[in-house]
Amino acid sequence: MEDTSLLRLLFLTSLLSCTTNQVSLTVSPSSSQMFEGQPVSLRCEEDDSSAGWTLRRNTTRETRTQCGDGWGRPAGSSCNISYMVPRYSGVYWCESREGATSNSITITVTGGPVILQSPVLPVMEGEDLTLTCKTKTSSNLPAGFYKDGSFIRTEPAGHMTIHHVNRSDEGLYKCNISRVGESPPSWVSVTGEEVTFDFRSSFIQIFT
Ligand SMILES: *[C@@H]1O[C@H](CO)[C@@H](O)[C@H](O)[C@H]1NC(C)=O
Ligand SMILES: *[C@@H]1O[C@H](CO)[C@@H](O)[C@H](O)[C@H]1NC(C)=O
Repeated sequence: MEDTSLLRLLFLTSLLSCTTNQVSLTVSPSSSQMFEGQPVSLRCEEDDSSAGWTLRRNTTRETRTQCGDGWGRPAGSSCNISYMVPRYSGVYWCESREGATSNSITITVTGGPVILQSPVLPVMEGEDLTLTCKTKTSSNLPAGFYKDGSFIRTEPAGHMTIHHVNRSDEGLYKCNISRVGESPPSWVSVTGEEVTFDFRSSFIQIFT
């Protein structure tokens, strides 16, 4: 291991030790858009389960409502939603009793025939971004991709990869499949290289 890597590791280790009680929200399937009727599981991945994290959401109709309180079924540190509907579109996050919060994830549920599968978490600068345009039954039909309302290109198999993203790739993406329809738009954000407390990807960076 090079000295700089070692220093980086020490730096990260010290960061980790002063950031206990972190929580991150993950969603399965990992997609910012879902079809109506799909089941979804959201999970508060915590360092300290005694902190009592709960999943909350804001939608256009409700603010800060909690899993189990009219929607979703709590199961340990997860919240399962057996049937997504368009009015469940909104921002989801984990919150502790003390008011600490996780990253938030924006989910769009459509009653339409096409979704754009985009990353739920910000993409790191320099990484590749892959967008997939899907119908309920197929994810390899020719699809057109759009950013901020402008056509980018048609991809013959429904996947578009942007290599080595930078901040200018951040924006509102959507796609369409001819004779089927158009997806809702989703925001894709790109973050710089600073440590974002996602220590798993930081370790991967060091050791690869
Ligand atoms: C949820 O809504 C409340 C009230 O509008 C707002 O203060 C809060 O920032 C929202 N949370 C997220 C994660 O968007
Ligand atoms: C996307 O929609 C536009 C406008 O309806 C259409 O002209 C184009 O052929 C569509 N592209 C694909 C790949 O479906």
